[in-house]
Amino acid sequence: MQIISAIDTLRSTLKNRGRIAFVPTMGNLHEGHISLMRQAREHGDSVVASIFVNRLQFGPSEDFDKYPRTFQADCDQLSAAGVDILFAPTESDLYPEPQQYLVDPPEIQNWLEGEFRPGHFRGVATVVLKLFNCVQPQAALFGKKDYQQLMVLRNMTRQLALPIDIIGGETVRAEDGLALSSRNGYLSPSERAEAPRLYRELCRLRDAVAAGDRDFRKLEQSAVSALDTHGWKTDYIAVRRQSDLMPPSSNQEALVVLAASRLGSTRLIDNMEL
Ligand code: PAF
Repeated sequence: MQIISAIDTLRSTLKNRGRIAFVPTMGNLHEGHISLMRQAREHGDSVVASIFVNRLQFGPSEDFDKYPRTFQADCDQLSAAGVDILFAPTESDLYPEPQQYLVDPPEIQNWLEGEFRPGHFRGVATVVLKLFNCVQPQAALFGKKDYQQLMVLRNMTRQLALPIDIIGGETVRAEDGLALSSRNGYLSPSERAEAPRLYRELCRLRDAVAAGDRDFRKLEQSAVSALDTHGWKTDYIAVRRQSDLMPPSSNQEALVVLAASRLGSTRLIDNMEL
């Protein structure tokens, strides 16, 4: 695997490499990322990954400084997964001057995650468009665990007519159901034992909907209360339409439940298609 940090070196290296499948990451890789790398192989002749902890998508009181940086271990995993090229720009490679031109997603950026992380999706969309311009892939893969992010990026790609297929990869879970996430590493042993409750509440809600319960407000509230009882602080548990993340309006729509809740100082997100 070749590791490249400069944009012009990346561009010259990627000439004549056929169809490129790209997996952007912020590093601290786990099996969720690695499964995207494996899927990427089915979508391209060359697989390119990136590692860049993007300051623009973190709020002022968020975990940018303590976000886990595990570059050598990440490189070992990417090599073993058969990634051809790792683009690992420094902050001055990617943002040589303050980034003043920003991608401002529409209203969706203010709902759900956006309500609790103002500016987050602007930072994500800006860096992903910039990474797309550097790598110029034909396909790009993102995990469904960040469901709203996937939708923002899909819509951006379509509206800006970028010639890139956006592919969503299924969430990878630990045996007890906890969705894999770099932030799971912040959990203490007792919090880690408690953490799968979020997944179990989503399953409970999914099963109730499958059994015909359409009182989504009550189901959401019941999940929030169950988490509250065990010391969680929930930002949202919301049943939404898969198509646009708006509240459901008819019986015919495919739905998804999205959740964000804090256990101690760790904020976990998860979702489940219903
Ligand atoms: O999902 C992530 O890891 C990040 O939001 C992304 C897409 C790599 C942009 O920084």
